[in-house]
Formats: sequence, C-alpha cells, structure tokens
Amino acid sequence: MKGIILAGGLGSRLNPLTKVTNKHLLPVYDEPMIYYPIRCLVNAGVTDIMVVTGGNNAGDFLKLLGNGKDFGLKHLNYTYQVGEGGIAEALGLCEHFADDEDICVVLGDNIIENNIKDSVDAFRAQGGGAKIILKAVEDPERFGVPTIEGEKILKIEEKPDKPASNYAVIGIYMYDHTVFDIIKTLKPSGRGELEITDVNNAYIERGNLTWGELEGWWTDAGTFESLLHANKLVADTGANNT
Ligand code: G1P
Repeated sequence: MKGIILAGGLGSRLNPLTKVTNKHLLPVYDEPMIYYPIRCLVNAGVTDIMVVTGGNNAGDFLKLLGNGKDFGLKHLNYTYQVGEGGIAEALGLCEHFADDEDICVVLGDNIIENNIKDSVDAFRAQGGGAKIILKAVEDPERFGVPTIEGEKILKIEEKPDKPASNYAVIGIYMYDHTVFDIIKTLKPSGRGELEITDVNNAYIERGNLTWGELEGWWTDAGTFESLLHANKLVADTGANNT
C-alpha cells in the first residue's frame, strides 16, 4: 500500500497566517502541521509516501522534510498542485505514483490521537473497493456527512445545511487503484473543486465502500477555531499515540 498526503490548496480560510507560508507548515503545538499526517501513515506501516503540495511556498516542504529522515524514512516523493482544484484533483496527480497499488490518503490538516493501523490492515484484507473512517462530532455541517441505515452508508453529503447524522467523514481514505478512473469522471462542485465526497459516493453506488469508527480524538486544523483546538489537543495528550 502507498501513502498520499494532500497538502496543497492556498489555505485561504487561515489568511493572513497563510500569506507567506503554506497552511501545512504552520505549527501545531511543538511541530509543523504536516508532521502529524506523515506520522499517521508511518505508524500504520505505510512508508512509501507522496506529498502533494501547492502554492508559493512548496519548496519549503523539501527544506523541512527532505527525504523523511525525522520519520525513519529513506525517501519521500513530492508533487505540485496548481491552484485550488480540490482534494480529488490533488489525488488525481498521484496515479503514476500509486502504480495500481492500494492507497491510503491523509489530508494534511487532519490530526488524530491514536493509530489507524487496524483500519489499514482491515482494508488490506478487504480486497479492493474503498474504506472511510467516521467520527461523531458536534458540528457535522462543516464536513462530509453520511446517511446511515443499519450498518450501511446510503450516501455522503458535503457540508449539508441539515446533516443526516452527527458523523463526519474524516480526512483519511483508503482506495483501490480504480479511484483514478472515478476521479476522471468528476465534475467541479459549487465551490469549483473536485470533491472527495463524490469519489466516496461513486464507491457507494458500486456497493464496495466500507467504514469504521475512529477511536480517540480527531480534528482538522484548517480554520482558526480548529487550529486552536488542534494545538490544545496535541499539547494536552499528544497525537499519533500508538
Ligand atoms: C474536506 C472534505 C470533507 C471532510 C473534511 C475532513 O473538507 O471535503 O468531506 O469531512 O475534509 O477534514 P475541507 O477541509 O475541504 O472543507
């Protein structure tokens, strides 16, 4: 399995913090934000990793991360997303890197308390399709939200006004190689982006999306409130604990 970290975009929701640097290079307590998703993958046994960056400061990722020595890696791969075409567009840039293997995608501003190794192992055993991870939250309208019936997800809505459940689809996704065919069929959403939620809905329509519920805390860090929250959580309990 290969790992992909999506750290592109312009971070406009964090202006002016992101005027002279990339969102994913901002500090979360005692480390740059990008360290957390990298460690999330490495702790789950995924060590062949591509970082998708973007914006004016993409070169700083290389200065900071190099070949990934701080994470026990010998090599890191990088690619560049022009503009803000969305998460699914950024993922589409990794087709050559994925080389028909399964992939585990982590959004560069998502931080978790624990380890996703069990989910990754379950997906490896699943034999294709997709797997997503849910977390109950107080503000589901900020996220992708599933409609759940029994054990089944019927659909996912992106930032719905009236959420169908109190679950968020967190920014950690596992896909087989057909994800790249799905991305090629997508049309931009209302916010002008190729949405990862549309990718997940395509797997639901095919009947091969599974899900698990995350234990321990999860947060994104893409708004002032969530960035502050992320800092507090990491300072209090640490992240990526095994
Ligand atoms: C993105 C996804 C959303 C998901 C969230 C997790 O939202 O579109 O479905 O729940 O990440 O962090 P965005 O950060 O692009 O608003």
